[in-house]
Amino acid sequence: MDQPKAKRSIMPLADLATPMAVRVAATLGLAEHAGTEGATADQLASRSGTSAAALRRLLDHLVAVEVFELTAEDGRYRPTELGAQLRKDAPEGAKPLLDITCAGGRAELAFVELLDVMTDGAPAYPRRYGRDFWTDLDAEPKLRTTFDAQMNWRFREQAPLIARNFDWSRFPDIVDVGGGDGPLLIEILRAHPGVRGRILDLPPAAAAAGGRLKAAGLDDRASAVAGSFFDPLPAGADAYLLSDILHDWDDEHARRILAGCRRAAAPDAAIVLIEPVRGHGADTAIDLFMLMCFGSKERTVEELTELATGCGLAFRGAAPVTTGRWALEFTVAAES
Ligand SMILES: C[S@@+](CC[C@H](N)C(=O)[O-])C[C@H]1O[C@@H](n2cnc3c(N)ncnc32)[C@H](O)[C@@H]1O
Repeated sequence: MDQPKAKRSIMPLADLATPMAVRVAATLGLAEHAGTEGATADQLASRSGTSAAALRRLLDHLVAVEVFELTAEDGRYRPTELGAQLRKDAPEGAKPLLDITCAGGRAELAFVELLDVMTDGAPAYPRRYGRDFWTDLDAEPKLRTTFDAQMNWRFREQAPLIARNFDWSRFPDIVDVGGGDGPLLIEILRAHPGVRGRILDLPPAAAAAGGRLKAAGLDDRASAVAGSFFDPLPAGADAYLLSDILHDWDDEHARRILAGCRRAAAPDAAIVLIEPVRGHGADTAIDLFMLMCFGSKERTVEELTELATGCGLAFRGAAPVTTGRWALEFTVAAES
């Protein structure tokens, strides 16, 4: 006999107890503290500097949602296969996105201000933390280093593909505008020995980029410049690269960045955007995060093109360079 289909509950989508329990477990390093042999609640409390009575309640919920398991005989909690993803060295790279003392985990917590974002459209991050995301990273070294590590992790497979799947060898001198600590430019230089480059980013990122270029043995072909892309950029390069930059900014700021590239560029130089584009890799969750954190958005190829051509750039072409990202190439328009 046919059973009536069970009605789906909205609550699993909305419950905050479980996501917060998982994030706090990541922040306290419970999976690392438990190790493979497991540990009692008292041991985990002493290793993580927490209240044993409170921690036991957290652990019991993590057992209920199958992130930890409890062995009744010895009272030890161990991470399950799922819980093992909370470890710092887990291949899934989830920890910095969940640990609320890391840039990614901290930014996600600003989602509690989402209602106010809907009311006035202004980003939640400054509302919650008193300064915008980039100023916060400049002020707190741990936030900067965890953000750069997150950027490197997300590009560990993509950067070599982007370096290979686009002909960078046409540009002997590239300025990587907002290049972070250099994950993409380093791969471009490795793949194209005739290319030289400069990474322009805020002072802490530029300092880290200089160190990485040296460690990679590329400091004879590349350097790092500390500065803001809202100020005049190094002039006369053959290409200005903007990788995952415009989606961090609203249209007004994105236009200022593009106009700065146009002003610095030689007449036939290229401005190359590498972006996850809406409809091809940029999903609704990341788009909502961009609105919440930065007041920005993921754009379609057409929206990016319209933005660039409105700044005196001429469209040369657009093509996917990885499963999640496109390259859009522009040059300085003849009439600008
Ligand atoms: C999403 S990350 C992308 C980093 C790098 N392009 C990549 O694809 O891995 C954005 C970068 O923009 C930099 N940034 C933010 N505001 C900036 C500014 N005013 N001037 C220069 N760089 C800035 C950040 O420090 C960060 O490294």
